[in-house]
Amino acid sequence: MTIAATKLFEIVPLTKHIGAEIRGLDLSKPVDEQTQKALYQAWLDHVVLIFRGQNLSQEDHVRATRIFGEHAPIRRPPKYFPPGFNRVLPGIMFISNIRENGEPIGALPDGEMMFHHDMIHHEIPDKGTLLYSIEIPSYGGNTLFASGYAAYDTLDPELKKKLEGKWAKHHYNYGSTIKGDGKGTEAFAAAKHPIFRTHEESGRKAVYVNRLMTVGIEGMDDREAEPLLEALFDHAEKPEFVYSHSWKVGDLMIWDNRCSTHAREDFPADQRRLMLRTTVVSNVRPY
Ligand code: OGA
Ligand code: MN
Repeated sequence: MTIAATKLFEIVPLTKHIGAEIRGLDLSKPVDEQTQKALYQAWLDHVVLIFRGQNLSQEDHVRATRIFGEHAPIRRPPKYFPPGFNRVLPGIMFISNIRENGEPIGALPDGEMMFHHDMIHHEIPDKGTLLYSIEIPSYGGNTLFASGYAAYDTLDPELKKKLEGKWAKHHYNYGSTIKGDGKGTEAFAAAKHPIFRTHEESGRKAVYVNRLMTVGIEGMDDREAEPLLEALFDHAEKPEFVYSHSWKVGDLMIWDNRCSTHAREDFPADQRRLMLRTTVVSNVRPY
């Protein structure tokens, strides 16, 4: 018996370290188990996947989310839900600058956002995030993805030695986009995690601190910790570790929060931007 090599989809890597476009799949239809497995492996290999030109209902978006694991509930308490959150299926968030009666209908409404890992201020952060674009401004608003693996692999050995085995403290106010901007709701969680995280599926290590949410190093004086963290942030955000995504309507992205950070560039405040977001549960405490 011969087994024909079936081509499930095409994988087009976008940079040396991070990001791949998946071509030849329409996620408005269910995909079979073999394809789901191959997509999961492609995600582990490339950390960020992009599916262009998708036309997804909310149900389709949730089904695509489940390819990568369990669809997470929204952890922010309902009294802090922006009004748009009541108009989508449970577990879907609006990421949008659209305002009604002066109030943003979604989360993270405006402008530039520093590099971060989603949910790192929780004890068990969600492992993946999916973002689907519905309306985009005419320019700006790129999302930047940095490989935490590449940052770890190329880190100055002196700095690595100093920080190996140490833990960082993380804190976040929901809605804040630049550290110290005073925006957002005080988070209901703060957490400590290893500065270098081992990805439980790939076995690789990644830098696991970020400029937006990391506030200190456990057991270290802030005066000593600050320059070390700054050096880590500067290194991890180097352009050679980054894929910059220029959005088109109908793009669906998934990124791995265990081994990458992302940031957002500024965009015009008077143009609408609307995305739908879901996240994927993890059951592994970072180690
Ligand atoms: C997010 C996020 C970036 C963007 O939804 O977690 O960081 O480009 N979004 O809106
Ligand atoms: Mn984010």
